[in-house]
Amino acid sequence: MAVLGIESSCDDLSMALVSGGRLLSQVTSSQVMAHRPFGGVVPEIASRKHLEALELTLEAVLSQAKLPLTALTGVSGTYAPGLVGSLLVGLNFAKGLAFSRQLPFRGVHHIEGHLLSPFLEHEVSFPFHGLVVSGGHSHLYRVEALGSYQLLGRTVDDAAGEAFDKVAKMMGLDYPGGPAIEQLARAGDPKRFTFALPRVKAHPGYTSFSGLKTAALEYWKQLGPDPSKQVCADLAASFQAAAVQSLLAMVSYARRDESRVPLVVAGGVACNGALREALKNYGEREGFSCLIPSPRFCTDNGAMIAWVGEAYLRRGEVSPLRLNAEARRPLGEEAASG
Ligand code: KG4
Ligand code: ZN
Repeated sequence: MAVLGIESSCDDLSMALVSGGRLLSQVTSSQVMAHRPFGGVVPEIASRKHLEALELTLEAVLSQAKLPLTALTGVSGTYAPGLVGSLLVGLNFAKGLAFSRQLPFRGVHHIEGHLLSPFLEHEVSFPFHGLVVSGGHSHLYRVEALGSYQLLGRTVDDAAGEAFDKVAKMMGLDYPGGPAIEQLARAGDPKRFTFALPRVKAHPGYTSFSGLKTAALEYWKQLGPDPSKQVCADLAASFQAAAVQSLLAMVSYARRDESRVPLVVAGGVACNGALREALKNYGEREGFSCLIPSPRFCTDNGAMIAWVGEAYLRRGEVSPLRLNAEARRPLGEEAASG
């Protein structure tokens, strides 16, 4: 007896089976090598690759859990936000499967999946603060309960992951840029290049990454055509430290009135060792628990979608099969119950 979760909002197709909140299996079909020659995700390629991988990924996730298709008790799929072609492929497969097997279906908001992903490994008490840092988001929420989210802060321009990816591309590093910057930064001096921390005048609790990205670009231009490996590592380390500091500033601003609640950090950028360490240390200093999922639950994964899908289905909250994919839809304005 298990709920299937399908995540296909960007370049990875990931399916997972969850039962009673526990992960039974997860299979992710990565497209990194298909997009690497282009230095970023090509939406057309992403949706076509998802289409090719659907059947095999479903077979693999069932066989890993040693379950037949008839053991499914529900189906969930990401419906927003993301690349609309990619979303459509996964969502329509999920809806088709639910319809053909007469199973309840639940559409899941991708950011809700990230925010609740720590539950795959820990019990977390409500309310908590949830920072989602990914290729498309750098958003901080107050999570009151399943389905109840209040925005506390966000970037006003680039997402953290987007900034890592752009800086990496400019430095000639491979896509995806976040892990490449982190790797290079290990040998670098984070104090060599100074970055002014962003300030968003109209919203003191918000942050921005476009200034950090532009400053990195200016430094890069000044380094000339053939900078040494050490200076590249120093630039990567300095940029990474500035990105971590700007996220830390956003989090600490939001916590000034509510400093004891747990902090959850999720999304692909939460794989970053420097960010993990900085936030864990902050939690230890201030006496709150900082929960960051294992890296396989930080990047896009089917498990978080299956977990959230099952939580709603257990409450009898299904989505209509007319639910459509949407490239943009802010969390807190979910369409999945409509
Ligand atoms: O959550 P995710 O897998 O997909 C989106 O929903 O966007 O996040 C992908 C982003 C990419 O921008 C990638 O460069 C970044 O997460 N990322 C990292 C690291 N690993 C992945 N950024 C910094 N350091 C990392 N170790
Ligand atoms: Zn994501």
